[in-house]
Amino acid sequence: MHRTHTCGELRLTHVGTEITLAGWVQRSRDLGGMTFIDLRDRYGITQLVFNMDDDAELCEKARTPGREFVIKVTGTVRERSNKNPKMPTGDVEVKAKTLEVLNSSKTPPFTIEDDTDGGDELRMQYRYLDLRRHNVQEKLILRHKLAIATRSFMDEAGFLEIETPYLIKSTPEGARDFVVPSRMNPGEFYALPQSPQTFKQLLMVSGYDKYFQIVRCFRDEDLRADRQPEFTQIDCEMAFVEQEDILTIFSALTKHLFRKVIDVNLPDFRRMDYATAMEKYGSDKPDIRFGMEFKDCDAFAKGHGFNVFDTAEAVLGIVATGCAEYSRKQLDALTEWVKRPQIGAKGLVYIKYLGESSVKSSVDKFYSPEVLEMWCKGVGAKPGDLLLVLSGDLDAVRKQLGELRLHMGRELDLRDPKVFAPLWVVDFPLLEWDEGEGRHFAMHHPFTSPKPEDVHLLENEPGKARANAYDLVINGVEIGGGSIRIHDRALQSQMFDILGFTKEEAQAQFGFLMNAFEYGAPPHGGIAFGFDRLCSLLGGSESIRDYIAFPKNNSGRDVMIDAPAPIDEKQLEELALRIRKDS
Ligand code: AMO
Repeated sequence: MHRTHTCGELRLTHVGTEITLAGWVQRSRDLGGMTFIDLRDRYGITQLVFNMDDDAELCEKARTPGREFVIKVTGTVRERSNKNPKMPTGDVEVKAKTLEVLNSSKTPPFTIEDDTDGGDELRMQYRYLDLRRHNVQEKLILRHKLAIATRSFMDEAGFLEIETPYLIKSTPEGARDFVVPSRMNPGEFYALPQSPQTFKQLLMVSGYDKYFQIVRCFRDEDLRADRQPEFTQIDCEMAFVEQEDILTIFSALTKHLFRKVIDVNLPDFRRMDYATAMEKYGSDKPDIRFGMEFKDCDAFAKGHGFNVFDTAEAVLGIVATGCAEYSRKQLDALTEWVKRPQIGAKGLVYIKYLGESSVKSSVDKFYSPEVLEMWCKGVGAKPGDLLLVLSGDLDAVRKQLGELRLHMGRELDLRDPKVFAPLWVVDFPLLEWDEGEGRHFAMHHPFTSPKPEDVHLLENEPGKARANAYDLVINGVEIGGGSIRIHDRALQSQMFDILGFTKEEAQAQFGFLMNAFEYGAPPHGGIAFGFDRLCSLLGGSESIRDYIAFPKNNSGRDVMIDAPAPIDEKQLEELALRIRKDS
């Protein structure tokens, strides 16, 4: 038997028991007469003791295993004389009787400890060693718990988990596809699914009215902390439902997951329509843990001879509570911050509301103190507050001020990672206009249904139609998105027209779905949660990479296995990707 117990399990109740442990050497200390080894496995660390007086040969042998050697030890559990209250096993130690080295280890390239000395790239290269670290294990355990809690909730609620294919057909909408050449069909390619969208809709046509799947999705897009080229969704679809049904059940799922996995009771979910989110927060995924809503400053800013504001499409501000005493240096730093290329503002105007009849601003030249005070009062600032103002094109200003708002929220500690503020953003526009391509794109995807009251707009003003679409946003992170779908062939076909598809293109790309709609497609809708994002939100870290056992880096590479990589000539020929030289 390799082990009777794990390294995290022994307590005072085990004192006197003969046990066998196996694991990795965390560290060993040779004190001359005694050798101590801290033995680690995924359950914890147990101290082993080898005593010269009891067994000199064994004690000698215990000096050989270095860090990360795999060893097996038998011995007796005894109470420690100097206990370690920081370790769950800290009351006991194992007095060793035998020691067997199961495998040796090279010195690891970084320390296998919570606080490691290894940099990102090195840890990714040796991810199998990184995964030995306790704090990394905790993240994967959280992921596991989240998956189990999801399955149990969905099962209870009557959903069936059904797998959909990974080798499918490339479609022009959405992000770029990863494609896979077909050896048996030379010159033809599968695509890896960006999501199981069309398959889950077909399952609704088939009558599986509650479907879910914890499923891998693939998107060839630029990567960020919250984006991986392969990521996981909790993907769901339901028939005979309206938006309200979906929001109810997925609010309940989210509450269940927070309770089960991190013992947090979420507050009730707020709702906000897209137009309001953009107007008040400049974002379709606002962090509503704090207020600092946008204030329209047009009426106060314009008509005083300050050309920048007079000619701007929009002048918007935020009130930073209690920040009137910001120093010159702090304000300069904020100005530099908004002028960074990532934010792109031309400048920042501030008004310090120091007290009744006492204001100071960066535009004192153009505005009298009375006007400035009226402005402060008009946007709801109180004495002691600081008003920060940006101007320019409406869309740009909203984006910039949205970023500044988040930045100020961070500076003022208003974004507590232990506070969760869930929000449904609803009533998204159905379409967005792409200036470069000169056509509309579906804001969510082409299968999303317009709001019934907006269907009449499709004919002449499709850009004005709102969608039956919703996103779940928590603390400024888009956790999930979904919609009620089109289930009528004619409407789906009209949608493809609007998106610029010819009838032939639409038929070639999505004929299978439109044909299915002719065989009794029920009304249906669904949603998908980003599973990795949910993990990182629950675990309190910014990057989803930490919650993926073997993630890719920001260039989409797996530096451990060194992928992607070229393939050999023979494989290329077999896949009809290169013409044979002799043909
Ligand atoms: P959507 O494209 O909004 O919707 O994706 C759903 C959720 O998946 C997560 N997500 C990602 N997570 C990590 N890395 C990525 N590259 C990535 N891309 C998306 C986000 C997002 O909210 N088929 C529709 C859903 C539906 O309509 O039912 C879909 O895929 O958290």
